[in-house]
Amino acid sequence: MTTSDSPLTQDALKTLVGQAALHYVEPGSIVGVGTGSTVNKFIDALAGIKDRIRGAVSSSEASTQRLRALGIEVLDAAEVPSLPVYIDGADEIDAHGYMVKGGGAALTREKIVAALAERFVCIVDESKQVATLGRFPLPVEVIPMAAAQISRRFAQLGGTARLRLAGDQPLVTDNGQRILDVTGLAISEPLAFESQVNQWPGVVTVGVFAHQKASVCLLGTAQGVQTIAY
Ligand code: 5RP
Repeated sequence: MTTSDSPLTQDALKTLVGQAALHYVEPGSIVGVGTGSTVNKFIDALAGIKDRIRGAVSSSEASTQRLRALGIEVLDAAEVPSLPVYIDGADEIDAHGYMVKGGGAALTREKIVAALAERFVCIVDESKQVATLGRFPLPVEVIPMAAAQISRRFAQLGGTARLRLAGDQPLVTDNGQRILDVTGLAISEPLAFESQVNQWPGVVTVGVFAHQKASVCLLGTAQGVQTIAY
């Protein structure tokens, strides 16, 4: 697929930003690694310099598998006190570096690993840029017994929550929980919204990344990779 104003496919843009993110990997360091198709491009590029890093802390079983298959050591997040950089994609990013994440259902571990890092480098193609968060259905990881209660709370805010399925069964996250995808929200105050939803009983993590926002965005465009610092 090509975007209307770009001769490059979306996949090619993902490859470009995945490769550009190598610039932020410090020699001899442990790298925080996100989840998704854009991060997969980064992992593939990282394999080319694997002898120059100590290893990675991963945000999902899927990324862990890919890292290990390429010979990159994966360390336990509990054993690593801090990371210089965390590299991940996003489903949306606004002009402040606030993001919506969780399209790959890995939002909780993504937020945990991001919180270990001094810098969050977000890698996206230009289709992910938005003026206001909320165009993409907002992923929320929840404890199953709270899903209906949390859905009602979103309805009071004007949203519609749907349980994410894998085939005809509820999707089960790496943490054994469920995902609600919420449409119909315009998230004009991401910091306040994230704090509010995170304190509802049964919410594991809301997919707004405002407290863990991007420090830098590498944006794949028809003109090449644009670097935006926040
Ligand atoms: C996974 C995520 C991903 O970063 C997000 O869904 C973007 O994925 P992709 O690079 O495949 O578009 O948050 O939970």
